[in-house]
Amino acid sequence: MPRISQRASAIFESPFRKYLPLAADAKARGVDVIHLNIGQPDFRMPEIDFSNLDFKDYIPYGHAEGEAALREAWCAYNRRFDIEIDPENLLITTGASEGILFALMAVADVGGEVIVPEPFYANYNGFAQMAGLVIKPIFSSITEGFAIPVKEEFEQAIGPRTKAILLSNPNNPSGKVYSRETLEDLASLARRHELFLIVDEAYSEFLYEGFDFFSALRLEDVDENVIVVDSVSKRFNGCGIRVGAIASRNEEIIEHIARFGRLRLSPPMLGQKIALAALSLDRDYHQPVVKEFASRRDLLLSRLSQLPDVIFHAPEGAFYMLVRLPIKDSEHFCAWLLTDFQYQGKTVMLSPGTGFYATLQKGTDEVRIAYILGKERLSSAMDCLEKALQVYPGLKKTVSPAASTQP
Ligand SMILES: Cc1ncc(COP(=O)(O)O)c(C=O)c1O
Repeated sequence: MPRISQRASAIFESPFRKYLPLAADAKARGVDVIHLNIGQPDFRMPEIDFSNLDFKDYIPYGHAEGEAALREAWCAYNRRFDIEIDPENLLITTGASEGILFALMAVADVGGEVIVPEPFYANYNGFAQMAGLVIKPIFSSITEGFAIPVKEEFEQAIGPRTKAILLSNPNNPSGKVYSRETLEDLASLARRHELFLIVDEAYSEFLYEGFDFFSALRLEDVDENVIVVDSVSKRFNGCGIRVGAIASRNEEIIEHIARFGRLRLSPPMLGQKIALAALSLDRDYHQPVVKEFASRRDLLLSRLSQLPDVIFHAPEGAFYMLVRLPIKDSEHFCAWLLTDFQYQGKTVMLSPGTGFYATLQKGTDEVRIAYILGKERLSSAMDCLEKALQVYPGLKKTVSPAASTQP
């Protein structure tokens, strides 16, 4: 019998999808499963004229680097964020996901190390494994509002194999927005140690009151170091069109990432047409969307603050929240919600916190809530969570006063 590779057998399983079979079983038993496990919001896309999908007899491959019109439109769109980048320095990818994988493969060889503040977007674990890299996590704590300790801890983590720092801003799963100062500190670290600074800006559009987004492409004197990954998935609620971008003023890295792109021939042509139409709209799609996310966030904050022994930090951006619960094992809890629990015919599907850390034992008492559904569904989900925490057999014994950190 042929054997699969060690890489394949060790591959990290996405915490958002891991328990889908259990959710399917629960649904088959008639339970209404409220999905707060994945970042796929319920908003409509902007209204797009699909008649521009004018393929007739066949859909050809496009340019490996992406269609010129889309690259230009993306650069024009970026000016809204005061980002000046030339289309030659921006490549279209099959979602930010491909951009992250390409970036990791381009910055380090097998055995190389990438420093990532944790908690981090869980799929970085899998992409690093696919590229043969090791993630060196830098812990940021829920009780300190997920602030990242820049200088000393990063310096200590940097070794001869370290090639890059990777983070998402705003952060999924914590909702943390990194300030200009934090990014400048990371940039000076990257410059001093000749590292790449890869910033995943998939949520740049989703900022709550009091928080500003500062793109890493605006950092000065680090053109050779900075690589930005972007996406239209969340921006226009078009996750399934699979279009993202990767940008850097480092021409060597862009040329070599373009070579990876040539191997996969072309990013999706249909998706690029839709992305072009969305990026070219001049009306503001995001203002009402962000407003709705803010009120969903506030609903969660209010409900969670009434639960004993629950710790959280109010999200500053994106639409996720990492919450510490009085549970011993978040994997067990998330599975149990689907296998053994229901309240008024409903249950809630969450992502276990462990998937968002590289350090073992971190996140064992945390879950990620993606507040991607309307307030009625969110309220029902919170009813379920509240009830579940009264009857779950794996609760921690210690009882401490409820605590939270607010922006
Ligand atoms: C931080 C972050 N980066 C990248 C992605 C993947 O984006 P895409 O759909 O463009 O591949 C996600 C998806 O949830 C994400 O949360």
